[in-house]
Amino acid sequence: MKHKNLKSSILLFLYLLLVISCDNKTPYNEIDDIALADENRTEDWLAYGRTHNERRFSPLIDINVDNVGGLKVDWYLDLPKDIGLVSTPLVVDGIMYFTGTMNIVRAVNAVNGEMIWEYDPKVGETIGNTRQVGWKHNRGLSFYKGKIFAATWDGRLIALDAKTGGVIWVTQTFDRNRSLYITGAPKAFKGKVIIGNGGTENGPARGFVTAYDAETGEEAWKFYIVPGNPAEGFENKAMEMAAETWTGEWWKHGGGGNVWHGFTYDAELDVLYMGTGNGSPWNRKIRSPEGGDNLFLCSIVALDPDTGEYLWHYQTTPGESWDFNSNMDIVLADLNINGKIIKALMHAPKNGFFYVINRETGKLISAEPFVETSWATHIDMVTGKPAETENARYVNGPVDITPSPWGGHSWQSMSYNPQTGFVYLPALHSAAAFSDEGIDLAAFQSVDFGGGIGVNVSPSGNLPRGYPASLIAWDPVQQKPAWSLPQEVFWNAGTLTTGGNLVFQGRSDGKFLAYNAQTGETVWSFDAGLGISAPPITYKIDGKQYISLLVGFGGGFARGGIEAHALGWSYRMHMRRLITFSLDGTADMPDQTPPFYPRPIVNPNFEIDETLAAAGQQLYWGCFNCHGGGMFGGGMAPDLRASAVALDKTAFASVVRDGSKINMGMPSYPDISDEELEALQHFIRLRAKETLPVYEKLMAEAGIENEAVNEEMGH
Ligand code: HEC
Repeated sequence: MKHKNLKSSILLFLYLLLVISCDNKTPYNEIDDIALADENRTEDWLAYGRTHNERRFSPLIDINVDNVGGLKVDWYLDLPKDIGLVSTPLVVDGIMYFTGTMNIVRAVNAVNGEMIWEYDPKVGETIGNTRQVGWKHNRGLSFYKGKIFAATWDGRLIALDAKTGGVIWVTQTFDRNRSLYITGAPKAFKGKVIIGNGGTENGPARGFVTAYDAETGEEAWKFYIVPGNPAEGFENKAMEMAAETWTGEWWKHGGGGNVWHGFTYDAELDVLYMGTGNGSPWNRKIRSPEGGDNLFLCSIVALDPDTGEYLWHYQTTPGESWDFNSNMDIVLADLNINGKIIKALMHAPKNGFFYVINRETGKLISAEPFVETSWATHIDMVTGKPAETENARYVNGPVDITPSPWGGHSWQSMSYNPQTGFVYLPALHSAAAFSDEGIDLAAFQSVDFGGGIGVNVSPSGNLPRGYPASLIAWDPVQQKPAWSLPQEVFWNAGTLTTGGNLVFQGRSDGKFLAYNAQTGETVWSFDAGLGISAPPITYKIDGKQYISLLVGFGGGFARGGIEAHALGWSYRMHMRRLITFSLDGTADMPDQTPPFYPRPIVNPNFEIDETLAAAGQQLYWGCFNCHGGGMFGGGMAPDLRASAVALDKTAFASVVRDGSKINMGMPSYPDISDEELEALQHFIRLRAKETLPVYEKLMAEAGIENEAVNEEMGH
């Protein structure tokens, strides 16, 4: 009897052990690099790119190419105060974490969307009148050992308790008097959390990244991307080496290189890679007048994760002069190249070439263009450098360059599916005219918040293709597309790929689609009714697989201009949402307002003074980053042509000078004079009058007759 009891106890013990180990669950407060690097941990979505490898591949197969046609909305969460949404949610232990507009962090139940906690970093109050440049949204969060790491527009890095949303520590990562900002997701690894910043266009920026202790927020190390003034000494040997590749007095212009995106921690090799930014200013003739590669601009730099010490680099665009930064995702995989398994990293930066690099050595394996690259014909495999075309550097007058500064690919994530062997790449086809004729290069000065790029860049009519974007399934071994789908709209979102032989992607026209990962055939489509800029994720809870994404047109293109405006996404008429799908979803989600064009207010009693309007046009340079090129709103800020506030002197002063809307990301301009405010009002009325025909044309093309609602009147 006794003996039997013992036997059953042992059996019970073994059974429990089995249950625990099958459950594959590390307690949330122990989730560390082992869990973060585990490709087989499928229930959660633990990190920005799902795992440390940044592949955005989930092995889940419950939703697959055969049944995806039945995918329906399972639950949704309306986000009435949100605008642009570009972030990747995380799912840990049944809780979904995501960042919204004004960097608000939310935790919701991943099974039904119920709110658990919300943390508002009060970015509006912190930016005050100091931050007239930057972004109201960021790309995501990091989870490590029970903490959520979040960053803000104004440069704070914040550690939150994942269970409660309570603040554990906060640190300011840059001097608030500098015109920098954060849009990136912090990256937590090996007991540290790293963050960079952006702002090469906004002032004389010298890029750097900082790693902090994940427990305490103490600075662990800092790495500058470009050298400072040699007279002040170099921080390390890497900076001394980099300085050899610069000429003139670059430090006066900052130099640039800001890492606003693109960190990957390689848990296998214990190396940190980062993709670095473009020059500040863009024009090398100003930055480094005698030429030079200008290290470490536009490079992949490998660092020791413990000390931040330089290990190796590969520069994608030496002597950068076109905003061809290398801040895009760095994806890790083992590739079979000519029968040899290579520990590779894959990278598709703005410059239009797809790079495969041996991540053990930093050596280039191959590079081929994935879009037209009029600036360089190919990458020389001996030197590893691009073969530039004649006049690519606009030395003999104006030149059309493709890709444009939007890049052949930007921060919208690519995903890699080890089963098909393809990388799913949201590619852009655009061109820009570059010229520095008429610019006094020697006199150029960049000022904080005033910015300056040192070159005139305008849209080029010489477009490389008849369509503005593609979804490309790129074969990184063959270095050519396996399939490629032309797309009618620009600026589509990042991709997700799964073991179900699927690729998911949202587009700026509001469509969310699934494709057969092998063939590119469209297998499912959903109309979210509002432009999508965030990538989807997938996870599984209680045996059920979900697909989830944020819907809210955002990022650079959504700032406005006629192309973005033509999509019809409005600041106030469309509901931003978090939408989650499953195969047995039954949620009844209200439709969105159809594409909407605010009617420019033309007031016959307002006499437009041409001189004032011209002065207002100059001042509008401080506004166009949010209110749109040509004053055509893109949905990230109200369309000023249709704003009643802009008609009323007192209301206008209250918003623009006194900062009454600062909590929604409308900065204040405390020093603006009455005359300047009046000039702006005249320019706004002029644009309203000039663009009324554009409005009428858009309405006619969209077949919308009812033009009664004015955007501002609706609220
Ligand atoms: C960093 C982005 C940003 C910049 C720069 C910016 N704005 Fe705004 N602005 C916004 C946002 C966002 C709102 C909407 C706030 C809200 O939700 O009410 C707004 C609202 C406004 C409104 C009120 C519109 C309405 O009808 O509600 C006016 C007027 C305005 N801005 C004028 C300006 C002017 C003039 C400038 C330049 C001197 C400027 N803004 C610069 C983001 C910006």
